[in-house]
Amino acid sequence: METKYWKLTGGPEDAAAYAEAGALVRAGQVVAFPTETVYGLGANALNSQAVAKIFAAKGRPQDNPLIVHIARKEDIAALTTGLNANARKIMEHFMPGPLTIIVPKAEIIPDVTSAGLDTVGVRFPINKYAQDFILACGCPIAAPSANISGRPSPTNAQDVLEDMQGKVAGVLDGGSCGVGLESTVVDTTSPVPTICRPGGVTYEMLTEVLGAVEIDPALLGDKDFKPIAPGMKYRHYAPKEPVYLLEGEAIELLPMLVSRALSAGLTVGVLCDSGMRERLPKDERVLLSCGGASRQALAADLFYLLRDFDRTKPDVILAQGVSEDGIGLAIMNRLRKAAGYQIITLENGVLTLKGDKQLPAFMIQ
Ligand code: TXA
Ligand code: MG
Repeated sequence: METKYWKLTGGPEDAAAYAEAGALVRAGQVVAFPTETVYGLGANALNSQAVAKIFAAKGRPQDNPLIVHIARKEDIAALTTGLNANARKIMEHFMPGPLTIIVPKAEIIPDVTSAGLDTVGVRFPINKYAQDFILACGCPIAAPSANISGRPSPTNAQDVLEDMQGKVAGVLDGGSCGVGLESTVVDTTSPVPTICRPGGVTYEMLTEVLGAVEIDPALLGDKDFKPIAPGMKYRHYAPKEPVYLLEGEAIELLPMLVSRALSAGLTVGVLCDSGMRERLPKDERVLLSCGGASRQALAADLFYLLRDFDRTKPDVILAQGVSEDGIGLAIMNRLRKAAGYQIITLENGVLTLKGDKQLPAFMIQ
């Protein structure tokens, strides 16, 4: 299939692109578009054949529901059988923005969109390009992240094309996404609102408005719990090479572990901030993916940095953990998944791979 490409500028000349993209969506096609979090793959949420094309393009498991996007608050009414007080408060404070609420689903939403659940995730993005695209379509837009299932979500149009060229009808290029991590998903149907996926709207921001908020225990690495968001159980964001995530006191050992990897004859990819970069051995076999100094900057670049390892192809990747307050909870959630939960800590002064697994040979010296 030919994949159309439209470069958006923010000016009146974008109207033609929206008109074309909107017509394609109304005709049952899939179009990729930018949001403030990551790029989405959009189709008419109420058209099951169109939605099925999203699953096909991504290679997405059928049991993983899609988020439905709107561009006017009032449009949520048609998608749900009702909003409780918590849902209303969240909408008032955080919509539009990088957040999705899980609410009881209305009949008009086909099973393929909601993966047969009786709830639906609804999101109102704040990104102007996303809003104009949704309004041009004139229907609610089902949209997952625009990556092949399992890969890091794309945060620029080039990364979308890398995964979706020839598989979708078009890509709207609105430049880089600001937040860089997918929206916070909050289940408003549970007695206490529950974060099923951490994102740009943080736990701290939500508790300030709602009082009590829970975090799905499955997100905190407890294997006995089944995640509320079906998508959270899949391996995700994983570069093709093994990734080890350093947490807590082990973070300080990153320069030493890089040296050990080099001594073992390995090329080593390092995901770290600019402060840590200065402390690493200077060697051309160290392949850096460096975020800025702040955690916001790291979040914005994280998926791009992870994708970069598929281009530089190191033998092994070491990632620097961050503190888990604020946006740190979302960063660590994505990093742990990228590492396939291969987490390195320091336990009573001993380097340890979580889950009593054997440390890789190069780390033992
Ligand atoms: O920022 C975002 O949310 C991006 C942009 C494009 O809006 N979209 C996105 O969609 O990340 P996706 O499909 O990649 O992730 C949606 C997540 C999945 O983990 C899915 O299981 C969960 O939300 N989800 C969707 N509907 C749900 C529901 N009714 N109940 C529980 N979890 C749900
Ligand atoms: Mg996704």
